[in-house]
Amino acid sequence: MNLKRRNFLKTSGAIMAAGALPISLVEIAFGKTAAEKFTFAFISDSHITHIKGKEFVRNWDQGLIRAIAECNMMSPRPDFVVYGGDIAQLGLPEEIDHGLDLLSDLKGDVHYVMGEHDYYLDLGAHWRKRLGPEHYAFDHKGVHFVVLNSVLTHDDWIQNSWNDKGWEDGMARMKAMARLDNPHGSPFLVGADQREWLRKDLEKVDKGTPVVVLSHSPLQKIYKGWNFWTEDAEELQKLLRPFDKVTVLYGHVHQIQYNQIGNISFHAVMATAWPWPYPSSYAQEASYMPTLTVEMNRADPFFERDATGWQMVDVHTGNVDMHYKLPDNTNRSVAFDEQKGHPADTRYQPEDARIPPQKHY
Ligand SMILES: [Fe+2]
Ligand SMILES: [Fe+2]
Repeated sequence: MNLKRRNFLKTSGAIMAAGALPISLVEIAFGKTAAEKFTFAFISDSHITHIKGKEFVRNWDQGLIRAIAECNMMSPRPDFVVYGGDIAQLGLPEEIDHGLDLLSDLKGDVHYVMGEHDYYLDLGAHWRKRLGPEHYAFDHKGVHFVVLNSVLTHDDWIQNSWNDKGWEDGMARMKAMARLDNPHGSPFLVGADQREWLRKDLEKVDKGTPVVVLSHSPLQKIYKGWNFWTEDAEELQKLLRPFDKVTVLYGHVHQIQYNQIGNISFHAVMATAWPWPYPSSYAQEASYMPTLTVEMNRADPFFERDATGWQMVDVHTGNVDMHYKLPDNTNRSVAFDEQKGHPADTRYQPEDARIPPQKHY
């Protein structure tokens, strides 16, 4: 029996077992009364990859299968599950169908978010056929949830490609977006139509209601070179500014990441597939320095499961406390610090392992 298997088996409770796995369990606890507490689970970025026929890349299948199995074991049961986008690697119907086939084993309702890997082959046609609308809102036990498609982009790039010669086919467009470092890609947008829909939707919501926004890309500008970026982030933040407590939860970056801009807390969720590199490497390119305002710990980017795992999130009266469970690594907590007014890491890593707040250039 290998070490990982032993570690898995020695944990008896479902929650403990899930601690080694790529699931986010989100607990909402506003009002601090038991009756109002609820949880939801969060799985993201599985990147199901088709090889041929019925063959798919096994590692990515396994990450998702494990997340689903552990999600189903959770006790108490999460009220629902959010899937944060990038079911597929290259947007193929086979990949989306296979991912959804695996996800059909999940108990309970699932809210899906569109990722760019699901979108750019056919501009979301197959995803929509299987899953329905890509932006909508719902209310759950006093929290207003908004799901956005944040991976749209400029029409002229979609129509004409990066060199104005047009795309050979949808796959050429998909591949231009599918890389981490994508010089021929185009920045993500929520876009004017969805922003107008959001403005109208939020008009109906009391400003004291906690708002949780679910997007694929961060609704903040972190690093343009890797599309850790949403071009109209400021306009979206403006729409969210009147509310007392806002949290944006996003996938895409495959790593723990958090920030605070005004009233808005930002938290990334982890991937079931693989980790992307960490923000300290952003400093290599000064022109794209991120505007992270909060000191962050970094974990170990050379550890294969570093950005995979799960976190439990408490939202006390609308603020978020994240409890990250990292497989075979030291657990971390990022709690909302009332005095500082932003999320702060509660431990313990040496100062030279942290990512300092970024300066504005
Ligand atoms: Fe992804
Ligand atoms: Fe993505």
